[in-house]
Amino acid sequence: MKKILRLLSEPRRKRLASAAVMNQAEFLNALAGNAQLHRWLRGQRTFQYFKNRYDLYADLQSKILGEESIDYLEFGVRYGDSLFKWSTIDINPDSRFFGFDSFEGIPEVWASVTGEAPKGSFSVGGVVPPNRRRPHTLCKGLVQRYVATVPARIQSPLKAGYP
Ligand SMILES: C[S@@+](CC[C@H](N)C(=O)[O-])C[C@H]1O[C@@H](n2cnc3c(N)ncnc32)[C@H](O)[C@@H]1O
Repeated sequence: MKKILRLLSEPRRKRLASAAVMNQAEFLNALAGNAQLHRWLRGQRTFQYFKNRYDLYADLQSKILGEESIDYLEFGVRYGDSLFKWSTIDINPDSRFFGFDSFEGIPEVWASVTGEAPKGSFSVGGVVPPNRRRPHTLCKGLVQRYVATVPARIQSPLKAGYP
């Protein structure tokens, strides 16, 4: 490594060093954030754990939402696993389900402490999943391009909870 560094010009060495330190700084920052989160979690009352996310959804539905109708909006639905699950858990005929996605994966690299997902990860090749059983509104495109028009897209005011 030292030999390689010696072969590089001074400005190149500086650029390389600053890139390495910057990445380390980001990593250390993320690590510190993670440590803080865990410290905070330890200070909380014990959490209820669920076998999987669907059990969590069912618990929320039964304990919080009950029989009330809802407007469900999901930004980033991929195959629609969560969206379609919620619409079988919430069977109120007045509930509405909206999903927003480019269906082309994440638009930029996503770096976290556990690793890096390249641009395009989670893509389903631009294919909008077909509706299952009851109607869902699926809007295709980059969320940041149309988020301001969401109320217009869904055509009528959202139910309680929407600002
Ligand atoms: C991890 S997947 C979502 C999984 C889904 N929520 C579930 O419960 O199964 C992330 C999705 O977000 C979408 N996505 C990420 N950023 C987006 C953006 N800015 N605009 C549109 N879609 C986006 C990707 O296309 C991908 O389908």
